[in-house]
Amino acid sequence: MPTYIVLIGPPGVGKGTQANRLSERTGLAHISSGDLFRENIKNQTDLGKLAQTYMSKGDLVPDDVTIAMIKDRLARPDCETGAILDGFPRTPAQATALEEMLQTFHGRVNVVPQIIAPRDELISRLSGRWTCRESGHIFNEKTNPPKIASRCDLDGSELYQRDDDKSETVTRRIEVYMEQTTPLIKYYRDHGKLVEINGLQAIDQVTQDLMEALKTRS
Ligand code: AP5
Ligand code: MG
Repeated sequence: MPTYIVLIGPPGVGKGTQANRLSERTGLAHISSGDLFRENIKNQTDLGKLAQTYMSKGDLVPDDVTIAMIKDRLARPDCETGAILDGFPRTPAQATALEEMLQTFHGRVNVVPQIIAPRDELISRLSGRWTCRESGHIFNEKTNPPKIASRCDLDGSELYQRDDDKSETVTRRIEVYMEQTTPLIKYYRDHGKLVEINGLQAIDQVTQDLMEALKTRS
């Protein structure tokens, strides 16, 4: 049976950082809804043009287009053994849609780690984040600097700062998370899937706690 892991947490808490590491360790595909949207924006697809109007304001892209994009992605062969979902689902409607999708793949959500950190830490991390253009590898000028400034350690491509990391957009993204994504925490807790992870710890320790949660709950 395939394994599906859903990472929940506010902007900047470390979902992408940890999903990359979990993907390396488990061999499961890393599916980031934000990265899929950014790829579409880069390629100027119709979906990308639509998503950009929401993302630039820090708002959520409508459920129907987001659900269709993820459904398409999960049907690809690299997800046959399951996936690590980073940033999806983000609303109760998306969670219900995910359950329906996974039935067609004969799977279910195994575990939902909720990574937790206070708001001032999120703001500080996002103001220092640098992302690689080629593959979305993530760095931080204070907590996780690249070896050579402005270059990705892993593929040498240019590092850039995301448009939605401007302070007013970050404020809106955190607000949207509190309003629209926190209901998911109750949903998954009620389903017995939620495991709380302290996101204030060093990156390695967070990975260790996540691997432990996967082992005991998968
Ligand atoms: P998305 O790209 O998913 O952004 P997000 O959820 O706001 O989260 P981030 O990517 O900003 O943070 P992260 O938790 O991945 O942290 P990271 O590892 O980078 O979504 C963007 C937009 O797309 C949304 O606003 C929305 O418009 C749209 N969208 C996406 N999914 C959608 C959906 N399902 N429905 C509708 N719309 C959707 O780490 C942050 C920084 O901290 C880095 O610099 C990193 O190096 C550093 N760091 C990480 N861990 C640590 C640590 N333990 N200690 C110190 N520093 C750390
Ligand atoms: Mg991310």
